[in-house]
Amino acid sequence: MTTSADYTEKIPNNVDLHEDRRLQRALESWQPNFLSWWESMGPSLPTQDVYLRTAINVGREGWAHFGHVAMRDYRWGIFLAERDPGRRIGFGEHRGEPPWQKVPGEYRSELQRLIVVQGDTEPASVEQQRNLGATAPSLYDLRNLFQVNVEEGRHLWAMVYLLHAHFGREGREEAEELLHRNSGSQDAPRILGAFNEETPDWLSFFMFTYFTDRDGKYQLGTLKESAFDPLSRTCEFMLKEEAHHMFVGTTGIDRVVERTAQLMAEHDADEVAARGGIPLDVIQKYLNFHYSVSLDLFGGETSTNVANYYTAGLKGRWLEERRRDDHTLTSESLMVDAVTDDGQIGQTEVAALVGLNTDLRREYIADCESGVKRWNRILAGAGLDLRLKLPHVAFNRRVGAFAGIEVTPDGERLSADQWEHRQGEWLPTEVDKTHVRSLMQPVHERGKIAAWIAPPRNGINGKPFDYDYVHLY
Ligand SMILES: [Fe+2]
Ligand SMILES: [Fe+2]
Repeated sequence: MTTSADYTEKIPNNVDLHEDRRLQRALESWQPNFLSWWESMGPSLPTQDVYLRTAINVGREGWAHFGHVAMRDYRWGIFLAERDPGRRIGFGEHRGEPPWQKVPGEYRSELQRLIVVQGDTEPASVEQQRNLGATAPSLYDLRNLFQVNVEEGRHLWAMVYLLHAHFGREGREEAEELLHRNSGSQDAPRILGAFNEETPDWLSFFMFTYFTDRDGKYQLGTLKESAFDPLSRTCEFMLKEEAHHMFVGTTGIDRVVERTAQLMAEHDADEVAARGGIPLDVIQKYLNFHYSVSLDLFGGETSTNVANYYTAGLKGRWLEERRRDDHTLTSESLMVDAVTDDGQIGQTEVAALVGLNTDLRREYIADCESGVKRWNRILAGAGLDLRLKLPHVAFNRRVGAFAGIEVTPDGERLSADQWEHRQGEWLPTEVDKTHVRSLMQPVHERGKIAAWIAPPRNGINGKPFDYDYVHLY
C-alpha cells in the first residue's frame, strides 16, 4: 500500500513524515538552506511561473501534476516507489534474504558514501545549467530546462531524506555539505569531474542531458538493486523522472542535427555556420567531449571497492534480474580494457567481480550507440553521406586504464605532443565554442524558435509547441 501524499503539507511525501517528528524537524531545518541554495545557485533567469510537472504520488497512473508554478514555490517532495513485500535481495552473499529496512552497522559508511556521491551530482547539474535560461532557443526548451532543474533539486531531496532518516548526525552533516560544495568551485568542488565542467551553451546542455544524465540513469539502476530497501525504492522513483531528462537530451540533439542537415542539404556544407547553423563537425566534437568525460564517471576498469559493494548487496548490476548467471560471480571472469606491457590497447582477463565498472560502462556504451543511430538516420533521411559516431573508448580519458595515454577517435595512439597539437581536430576549440555561443541568442517569444535548432514534433503534456510554457517578467 502506498500512502498518497498530502499535497498541502510543507514537504509533500509518501513516507509518513508526520509520524516521525524528529525527522520532520531535521528536514524542515534543512529546507531553508536548500531554498537559499536554489535562490543563489539555481536558475538565474527571473520568471513569474513555469509549466512544470510536480511529483505528487508514485502510482502507475497520475503520479505527476502539471501546472504553472512560481519556481521558488515548487513543491520538492519525498517519494519512494511502493514497497514490494515479496522482494528478496537479488545478488551477492545475502541473495535470497529479505531486503534491509534499516542500515546494517557493518555497511554504514559504504552506504553513506554511495548516497553522498549520488546526491552530490544532483545539485551540481543545476549549478552547471544555471545561466542557460538567458539564451533559451524557445519557451518550450526553457520549460524543459527548468523541469530538469527542479527534478534534480528533488533528487537532492531524495538523497537528503535517506541521509537524515538513516544516518544520524553524520548524515545531517553530509546533507549540509551537499549544499556547501559547488560545481567548479576552487575550495569545495563537486565530487566527480564531469560535474565541475561548464555547461555554457545549449548544445552542451543537450549533450549533457544525453550523455551525463544517462550515466546517472545507469548509476541509479545499480542502486535500485540495493539490498537497502529505502535506497532501492528511492532510486526506482527517481528513474521515472530521469526518463524525461533523457528525452530532453535525445530529442534536443535530434533537433540540432535535423536543422544542420536541412541547411547542409539546402546549401553547400561549408555554409552551415554562415547560415546560422551548427556545423556537423562541431556537433561531433561536442559529442566526443561529453561522451568521454561521461565514460570517466564509471571509474576504473577494475575496482575492489565495487566488488565488495556487490558481494555485500549494496550495489548491483544494470538489470540484475535479467542476468543469466549465479548473481554472486565468485567464479566468473571478464575481459576488461587495458594498456598492454608493450603500450598497445588490448584487454586483460580479471575476476568478474572486480570488473563490474567495466560491465556497467559497456551497458552504457551500447545505450549511447542507439542515440548515434537515430541521429544518423536523420542525416541519411536528408540525403547526406556524413555520419556521427562515438569515439574510441580510450579517447580523452582521464580515469582508468587509458588515463595515461592519448588516442585519436579511431583509437590510434598519439604521443603527448601529437595530442597537444591535434586535439582541436576532435574536441571543441575556442573558435568552435565562440561560434556556438554566438548563436545562443534568446528566443523568449511564444511559438518562435532559434534558427540553429528545429522545432520539436510535439509539445509537453499534450500542449502545442506555441503554448505559453513560461511567463517571464
Ligand atoms: Fe538526477
Ligand atoms: Fe537527471
